[in-house]
Amino acid sequence: MTETLRNLRVSEMPPQHAADPKTPAQQRARFFNSGNAFNVQLPPVPDMAFAEEPARALDPATPTGMILCDISDQLECPFPATSPLVLAGYARIRAGESLNTDPRASGVIAYVIQGDGTTRCGDEEIAWAPGDIMLFPGGAAQHHETGDSDAVLWVVSNEPQVAFEGLQPPAVGMAPTGVVHYKAADIAAQSDYLVANAEVGELPGYAIVLSSEQNEASRNVLPTLTLAMNTLPGGTSQPPHRHNSVAVSLVVSGEDCYSMIDGKRKDWSPWATTITPPVSVHSHHNGGDSRAMFLIVQDGGLYYHTRAMGFEFAEE
Ligand SMILES: [Fe+2]
Repeated sequence: MTETLRNLRVSEMPPQHAADPKTPAQQRARFFNSGNAFNVQLPPVPDMAFAEEPARALDPATPTGMILCDISDQLECPFPATSPLVLAGYARIRAGESLNTDPRASGVIAYVIQGDGTTRCGDEEIAWAPGDIMLFPGGAAQHHETGDSDAVLWVVSNEPQVAFEGLQPPAVGMAPTGVVHYKAADIAAQSDYLVANAEVGELPGYAIVLSSEQNEASRNVLPTLTLAMNTLPGGTSQPPHRHNSVAVSLVVSGEDCYSMIDGKRKDWSPWATTITPPVSVHSHHNGGDSRAMFLIVQDGGLYYHTRAMGFEFAEE
C-alpha cells in the first residue's frame, strides 16, 4: 500500500493493484473492498414507449432496412439494447425486396405487423402473413422476402445478453431452439378459448404463452426469454403486480388502452414498443370496447432459472 492511500477512507480508495507483480496475470489483478465495490450506479431502465420507430417503419417512403429501438446510451451499455438483455426493432421490407436479419443472439423472435412474405433460415422456409409469430435459432441468418406489398416485422432477440458476456451466437445445430411458426389463427383460437373458459378470478390475466417442442418443459421460448400474447377484453384491467423481469412489449391492438407504471399513466399507441421496468408496480387497462392485444417478451427465463422472479400482486 502506498503512502498516499494512508489518509483515504476505504470507500474512497481507487482500484488496488498487486504490490509487486511478477507476472502479467498478477499484474491484471484488481482489489476492491466492501466500502468501494458496491457503489457502482447504473442508470435505471426507463418506462418508455417507442412510437416514432414504428411510424417510420410503416411509412411507405422508408426504404428497406432495420429500425432499432436502441437506448444503449441511456442504459450505458456498449452494445445496442432496448433493455439490458433484450433488443427490439422493426424490419421494413418493401414489396418485391428482401432483407437479412442476423442478430448475434441465441434466438430471434419475429411478429408480422404488415404484409406477406417468406423467411428462409438454414434449410427451412416459413410463409408468413399478418399476425404470425416466428422463432429462429441464433447463428443462422434470416432471409426475408416480401410479396406484392410492403412488410413490417417486429424483431426481438437476446443480442445484448450474448454481447454482455462477449459470447458468440451458437454454432449451426447448437441453438436452444429450432425454427418455429405460430400461425395467427392458432394464437387467436387459443386466446378465444382462454377468455371463454377461464373462471373469473382464476387467472392473473389472459395470456397465451408461446413455447416450443424444444423448450416445452420450461414453457419458455428461449432459455432466458418468455413470450406471451396478452389479451384484455374491452373495459377490463390487469391487476397491479411486479416482477424482477423487464418486459419489452408490442402494442398489437386496442383503443383507449394504457398502462399504469409506478403510478404514472402511459397511453398506448399503435404498434409501439414499450418498456416495463423491472420491479416496477404495473397494470394494463383497456378503456375501449374492443379486445386489446399486446405481445410481451420478458427476460423471465433467467429469473425462473435463478429462482428469483419475485412476482407478487401489489397495490397501485
Ligand atoms: Fe407484468
